Amino acid sequence: MKKIIIFASGSGSNAENIISYFSANKEVVFPCILSNKADAYVKVRAEKLGVPFKYFTKEEWKNGDILRFLKEENADLIVLAGFLLKVPEDIIKAFPNKIINIHPSLLPKHGGKGMYGMHVHEAVVADKDKESGISIHYVNENLDEGAIIFQAKVEVKPTDTPEDVAHNVHALEYEYFPKVIESLL
Ligand code: GRF
Repeated sequence: MKKIIIFASGSGSNAENIISYFSANKEVVFPCILSNKADAYVKVRAEKLGVPFKYFTKEEWKNGDILRFLKEENADLIVLAGFLLKVPEDIIKAFPNKIINIHPSLLPKHGGKGMYGMHVHEAVVADKDKESGISIHYVNENLDEGAIIFQAKVEVKPTDTPEDVAHNVHALEYEYFPKVIESLL
């Protein structure tokens, strides 16, 4: 039995896609989805999926409460799927190579502070990049700098808008993120 704990701050379409992918697999369980946003749309998805939704404050994130919770749960893998807070060092140290994140660009391009969601795709179009994609990586103490586990690319056409790039990158996320998680279990 493998336990996966998902963290998400927003819509949660990746969280839903991952949980649906493993729905027939009795060896993989999702004890809860954790979020730093009480009203994130991922809460609605969690309810629909029958997975407990747990909101936490910034204080609980930093004062060791969430670390204690993760230790009690004994998570095999912690998946950040559209999660916007930086992970404190004590959590990273307690779960070496067990925390992964997905970033919607080909890191090291367009990573770091402020680079999330549409900001990333806008930067790709502004830089006239010819390709974009996804990076799934281990989480270390520096934002978007942990060792890369997997990348997949998609062409960016000169006529593509940031919304087009976002759409194409999301398709890659849905296709590959669950499979990469499966390969890590
Ligand atoms: C995804 O593009 C992911 O790569 C990034 O944030 C977005 C989250 O989307 N880290 P969703 O909440 O899974 O719909």
